[in-house]
Amino acid sequence: MSAHGTPIPMTARASGPLTGVAEVPGDKSISHRALILGALSIGETHVTGLLEGQDVLDTAEAMRAFGAEVTRVGTGEWRVHGVGVGGFAEPEQVIDCGNSGTGVRLIMGAMATTPISATFTGDASLNSRPMGRITDPLALFGTQAVGRAGGRLPMTLVGAESPVPVRYTLPMPSAQVKSAVLLAGLNAPGDTVVIEPEATRDHTERMLRGFGAQVAVEDTDEGRMITLTGQPELTGQRVAVPRDPSSAAFPVCAALIVPGSEITVPGVSRNPTRDGLFVTLLEMGADITFENPREEGGEPVADLRVRYSPDLRGVETPVERAASMIDEFPVLSVVAACAKGTTVMRGVKELRVKESDRIDAMARGLEACGVRLEETDDVFTVHGMAQVPGGATTHSRLDHRIAMSFLVLGLVSKSPIRVDDGGPIATSFPTFEGLMDGLGAIISRDPA
Ligand code: S3P
Repeated sequence: MSAHGTPIPMTARASGPLTGVAEVPGDKSISHRALILGALSIGETHVTGLLEGQDVLDTAEAMRAFGAEVTRVGTGEWRVHGVGVGGFAEPEQVIDCGNSGTGVRLIMGAMATTPISATFTGDASLNSRPMGRITDPLALFGTQAVGRAGGRLPMTLVGAESPVPVRYTLPMPSAQVKSAVLLAGLNAPGDTVVIEPEATRDHTERMLRGFGAQVAVEDTDEGRMITLTGQPELTGQRVAVPRDPSSAAFPVCAALIVPGSEITVPGVSRNPTRDGLFVTLLEMGADITFENPREEGGEPVADLRVRYSPDLRGVETPVERAASMIDEFPVLSVVAACAKGTTVMRGVKELRVKESDRIDAMARGLEACGVRLEETDDVFTVHGMAQVPGGATTHSRLDHRIAMSFLVLGLVSKSPIRVDDGGPIATSFPTFEGLMDGLGAIISRDPA
């Protein structure tokens, strides 16, 4: 089933060179944060380049339910009139975050220290994902949570009446957990401290500063220590959302493996906490150049020029790099299947609790397409081959990145690759089909 309707089966076929300009949508992480921080601010936040994928639209709706005024002005252009830190109203209805772990976890953090209750739910994928990683640190503030067995949604949170600031060391590398704690810390008096032994994406810290909070970041023996001073007055900002490197990954990887391709992907974020895929592809021998480096919306961005790279070689990706490419392993495993030699991806166990168990989803689909691989809980190994046979139906498991990864592989496999449901692609990359078609990729919808 697609996230919000009937399944949309899709097939990708061997395609000629991919050429042209790929304008990928706005960054998903920054889009969620722009709406949430806008809702927690006084005055108007004006956002341009917002990702209008279902995940972000669900967050916009949630912010309305908590009392913010959220208006779409034009394509990617939105205005938010916030209620201020601690100003969230109690929602009258259940908050449905659809497919989005980022949406629900950040919103839970944002409401956790306001004395209101809210009930959260999502689709079958989201309702099977662990929320204990959020409710454990939120309990330290005084927030109560009642959910289903195993800490799953649907779940009701009761915000702390008299929140206390916390000091929390992340037990897993997760920007969602870090962000939930920092957002909860906004309405607690005093300093809330988060320590992350491994650095994860830092958009929350950057944006909190941009909205007027005091956030100090220090490298310590325990890891990266972030200190937020509670109860700031956040004020509405202009946010120009850069293009999403995690979405850029799909046309970039496609161009690297489809013979004769040459594409440009303008204005992609090159935030070092998101850059692991590009570092890895360069090590594999990819022909990618980063042109016109500049700063947009507080993030480093560049225009990517990507050319077909016939001599890609397998590499080992170290554990320390995993967080900076956590969403890109599925499509990296596709490139690995088309490279010479073996690619060993280490530190990947967090992939097992994403929109799907992404190691299992990729492993079963790649095997069905004739690729050899091995997996342990935390290491994924893929053996490259001259041409992947394909000719299989793969299962997207309500996971946008699994669907797009197999459609990229189908552009170079001997026989077409079918994805049972491309519907989830709309959660993060609603323009994927049109964009890939414009580059020359043959991807079609099949009769259901
Ligand atoms: C995100 C954090 C990551 C990532 C997700 C977006 C964020 O999740 O996979 O797509 O915006 O903070 P984890 O925190 O579970 O690693």
